Amino acid sequence: MTPPPWLDAFRSDLDAEFARAPRIAAMATSDRVGGATVRHVVIRRVEPDGSLLLATDARSTKVDHLRRRPDASISFWLQDLRRQYRLDGPVDRLADGPERLALWRGLSDAARALFTWPEPGTLRTDDPDAFPAAVGADTEPPGSFLVLRVRPLFVERLDLKPHPHERLRWRAFAGTTTWTGPQAVNP
Ligand SMILES: Cc1cc2nc3c(=O)[nH]c(=O)nc-3n(C[C@H](O)[C@H](O)[C@H](O)COP(=O)(O)O)c2cc1C
Repeated sequence: MTPPPWLDAFRSDLDAEFARAPRIAAMATSDRVGGATVRHVVIRRVEPDGSLLLATDARSTKVDHLRRRPDASISFWLQDLRRQYRLDGPVDRLADGPERLALWRGLSDAARALFTWPEPGTLRTDDPDAFPAAVGADTEPPGSFLVLRVRPLFVERLDLKPHPHERLRWRAFAGTTTWTGPQAVNP
């Protein structure tokens, strides 16, 4: 498999910007009537084929959106580099398998505990015992623990450092690993 032409620069930009800090990105999905919804997520892994892995609650609204329309748009703003990335593509829901287990084991105890809390978005539960603060790595992931794999088919990088700004695009076709780009467009 040939790696996507944008991947090396993207990975080294994330390393430079975040080092060991969480790689926080905005993720947009479409609701059932085509309205847009955005929220922040932690991108846990960038795979050799350019896929992005994140962990989420299977009971959350975004998963409901993705069941109906399995596409997302991910955007990073890299403040120090003054660079924005947008990555759009279909999303797989991984409810089992080795990637899911590896991500579960790699979470902090506090992050694992979130998946045992009451259903997100429902009326606030009064019982404080319903919100444990820590869950160990030696546990099996609960059914609420879902991994999303975003497979970008369109990537755009906007660089605000040069004058004029630089805006580059790469595209792939669904089912292939062939990319075109970079194509420079007006910023
Ligand atoms: C800094 C930050 C990181 C977050 N990381 C995640 C994450 O990795 N996965 C996730 O599902 N939600 C994460 N959230 C919570 C989401 O932004 C959102 O509130 C939650 O997933 C419910 O979204 P939904 O109702 O659109 O599904 C994070 C929030 C913040 C502020």
